[in-house]
Parts: sequence; C-alpha cells; structure tokens
Amino acid sequence: MASVPFDQLDGHIWMNGEFVRWADAKLHVLTHGLHYASSVFEGERAYGGEIFKLTEHTERLIESGRILGFEIPYTVEEINQACRDLLVKQGFTDAYVRPIAWRGSESLGVSAQNNRINVAIAIWQWPSYFDPATKMKGIRLDIAEYCRPDPRTAPSRAKAAGLYMICTLSKHAAEAKGYADALMLDWRGQIAEATGANIFFVKDGKLHTPTPDCFLDGITRRTVIGLARDLGIEVIERAIMPEEMAGFEEAFLCGTAAEVTPISEIAQYRFTPGALSKKLIDAYEAEVQPKQAQAAE
Ligand SMILES: Cc1ncc(COP(=O)(O)O)c(C=O)c1O
Repeated sequence: MASVPFDQLDGHIWMNGEFVRWADAKLHVLTHGLHYASSVFEGERAYGGEIFKLTEHTERLIESGRILGFEIPYTVEEINQACRDLLVKQGFTDAYVRPIAWRGSESLGVSAQNNRINVAIAIWQWPSYFDPATKMKGIRLDIAEYCRPDPRTAPSRAKAAGLYMICTLSKHAAEAKGYADALMLDWRGQIAEATGANIFFVKDGKLHTPTPDCFLDGITRRTVIGLARDLGIEVIERAIMPEEMAGFEEAFLCGTAAEVTPISEIAQYRFTPGALSKKLIDAYEAEVQPKQAQAAE
C-alpha cells in the first residue's frame, strides 16, 4: 500500500447506505463539510476479523455529530452492521476502519440547518501508525506551539475534523525537526495529548495521565486504564505540568491507530521504555484479539 494515494486504493466504500466502488466514492467540491469542517469521524481497528470496541466507536461518532448539532441518520446497529459487512467485503481481518459523517452541499453559507447528513465508511490496511522499526525503541516528540483549546472555545469532546487543524500543523512542525509527533499542552499550560493519541507516564510503578477535560478521552486510553487496574497498577488521572516530565521514568502514547507506543524523548525530557510499558503493550495486544478466538485456543 506504500505510496498509493488513498483515492486509488481498491475495493468498496459504504456510502449513504450502499457499497460503491472505491474510485466512485466522491463528493462535490461545494460541500459544507469541506468548507467549514462540519464533519465528524472515527478511527477503529479490526483484529482477527472483529472490530475492537465497535459499539463504543459508533456511539462516539453519533455523539460527535450531536455535539456539532446534527443527527446521523442511522442507528448504532445499522452503522455497526455496515462496518462489519464492509470488513468482510474488503476481505480483511486486520484493518483500519474510518467512518465519517458530514454536512452536504444543499447550502453553502455558515448556516446549513437543512443540509443532508452524509455518512461513509472506508476500510484499508494500515499496519502501524509509527515506524515499526523504531516503535520499541520509543518515539521522539517535540512540544507543539498550538495548545488544546479551552472547551468554551471549541467542542473538545467531539471527534470533529476541525479540531485536527492544529494537530496537522503541530505534527508537520515536529516532523520538520525530525520528530515523530508533537505533545500538545492545553490552554492552561498542562500536558494534554499528542496529535492523534493520549499520553501516559510512569513513576514509581504508578501510571499518571492527564484528566481529559479538554481533549478526547480515548477508547484506548480507557482500555489501558482498565487493563492497568486489572494488573494491580495504580492509575492517577490528574493535571500534569510539563516540568514534571523530568521526574517520569517511562512514557507512552495510546490510541486506536498508535496502539501502545513507547516514547523515548519529549523535547528536553528523556524516558526509557521499560517493564511497565511492555506489560501494557502485551496486555493491550491480548485484549484486542477477538474473545471467541481466545476462548477457542
Ligand atoms: C486527538 C486524539 N486524541 C486521542 C485519540 C485516541 O482515541 P482512541 O483511543 O479512541 O482512538 C485519538 C485517536 O483517534 C486522537 O485523534
């Protein structure tokens, strides 16, 4: 899949209730979602033929639409079924799933009360978000110039396309300096998250992670917290200031795309991917496997 542009991949895309050929899944240039970012999406992964936490993702998609003031015209079960059917149709067992909903082209002013809400789902093979060769060594992050906004200035609980403008800018700036990603602080100066994943730190055998009060409370984040607690590891959710990174031993990112990825550097701070990160990588890898397959082993 290396350098094939995404509009030239093979197979089908589910669009507004039908499977259309990949090349035909088009929208008009005068689409509200494109001009004003009136669009919400999900990122999911299938493992062994099952989409991990599918219902939680679908519920978040619908809730993100509501936060942006629109109602997605399908039920959770209809979207779940479309995702499952498309996975089979694409012939994949391990794959990335991208549902998206957006306001259409019926009107193009800022107000678009009656525009159609379109929904599409695409599935492709996206093995590792970060370079697999460097993943176990830990990735290097810079600190972004842009901050996660105050929830009074943006709908921060939605997985909305518009919130990614500062993520792309921050990731590009970090990549230009040779980093893999950027850590974003929030408007108060507290540690928030990376551009597409949540963050955890390790100190004295305990996990510390920022309280998600102005950024996405990731499904992977919640999964990792549950796994850690099951393993008897204390998890502390709190406000974390950047200077505290000097005292943390390990750090890792987590998200559907990133899975659990150790960090070796954040700007001037250094971390050593270690036993606790490895434990959670292993626990997460086991957790995402379909439960029936596990039971049959
Ligand atoms: C900005 C941002 N934060 C956090 C996450 C992690 O969320 P999840 O674990 O639900 O994929 C993502 C991934 O979608 C993201 O884009």
